[in-house]
Amino acid sequence: MASSFDKVINRMNTDSLKWDGMKERFGLIPDDTLPMWVADMDFLSPGPVIKALRERVEHGVFGYASDPRSVFDAVADWMERVHGWTVDPSWIFTAPGVMPAIGMAIRALTSTGDKVVIMPPVYPPFFRIVEDNERILVQVPLIEEKGYYNMDFEGLERACRDKAVKMVLLCSPHNPVGRVWTARELDKLAEISEETETVIVSDEIHADLVHSGNRHIPYATRSKGKKRWITCVSPSKTFNIPGLNTSYTIIADKALWSAYEKAHKATAASHHNVFGLAAAKAAYKHGDIWRREMLSYVEKNLEQAIAFFRISMPWVGVTRPEGTYLVWLDFRKSGLDSEKITELLLQKGRVALDPGHWFGREGEGYQRLNIACPAELLEDGLRRIHSAFEGIRKEVE
Ligand SMILES: Cc1ncc(COP(=O)(O)O)c(C=O)c1O
Repeated sequence: MASSFDKVINRMNTDSLKWDGMKERFGLIPDDTLPMWVADMDFLSPGPVIKALRERVEHGVFGYASDPRSVFDAVADWMERVHGWTVDPSWIFTAPGVMPAIGMAIRALTSTGDKVVIMPPVYPPFFRIVEDNERILVQVPLIEEKGYYNMDFEGLERACRDKAVKMVLLCSPHNPVGRVWTARELDKLAEISEETETVIVSDEIHADLVHSGNRHIPYATRSKGKKRWITCVSPSKTFNIPGLNTSYTIIADKALWSAYEKAHKATAASHHNVFGLAAAKAAYKHGDIWRREMLSYVEKNLEQAIAFFRISMPWVGVTRPEGTYLVWLDFRKSGLDSEKITELLLQKGRVALDPGHWFGREGEGYQRLNIACPAELLEDGLRRIHSAFEGIRKEVE
């Protein structure tokens, strides 16, 4: 039966980074390159979100928004309903995005020259946000074993024992490797945080995008002793509204809350975008049925992609994501580096994925594939990936 997610929507000339921004990012590429990079979806947003936005547009006056309790209630209610996490609405700040919120957290809780830990391969702005704020980046790479990734707890403990390390950026679920961290893993991280007094900034932007058999566990529910965490959440990935620049930051500890509030004020980041506000409320209140349907569609796409690589390109390693709509692909058996692989994909295959080296040294030889698109586009994209490597010798086939 046809699904509403099957509908192919022309996104060209909509100021879309994914579609219109390809040339800017990748340079001279064929005009009909298919974008399968950037983490947004080629699906319409949920009906209730579009309806709420339409009503807001129809009103016609777009003056400053108040700081309505109703949106914080909607965020807290979602966290309770979907993730079993009790959040007091007074713990929540608005932000124009998760990355701006992480930047504020860094400025609020660390000083110039302090160290911040990240776990590559990881979302590229994690590197930049630390360095652009003149903090020192400490990399504790994930440990990869047969295509499955784990945190390096010994490495994390060693790093956090350095008094200059003040913060760890946790990506949960993890982009790009798709890990959904277990309670045991989060407990271990929480022990390290408690022993070394390191703050965990938990980026949970992909929390609502978890596949069957897995469960997202908010880091906050596992923290021990003092509540040394800041959690960043957002309706943006879940409901495909990242262009509305709306996210929420949750902080329970009073001292951390006050420190973050200072940075929030200094950045004048407390304004809500009226469209983001309307969309977030509608999404959190009425979007869960759509989210579940979307996830089952993405899961079918995932099975299709896994089967495709197993049958047609068995030399490519596929990390099955436990969460997110992103698939981490290991092309190292091609013997080519990331840049050459990207070049082949773009020029010969006419398809754009995210080059693995953007995610750190550990991503060399990898690519990240976005599968949140109509099945027809996915099939086309997979065919293009295949054609890019035709005639290329692989180590094993
Ligand atoms: C892990 C992670 N954090 C943050 C972001 C960006 O968030 P925002 O657009 O709200 O700054 C993304 C987007 O892909 C992401 O994957």
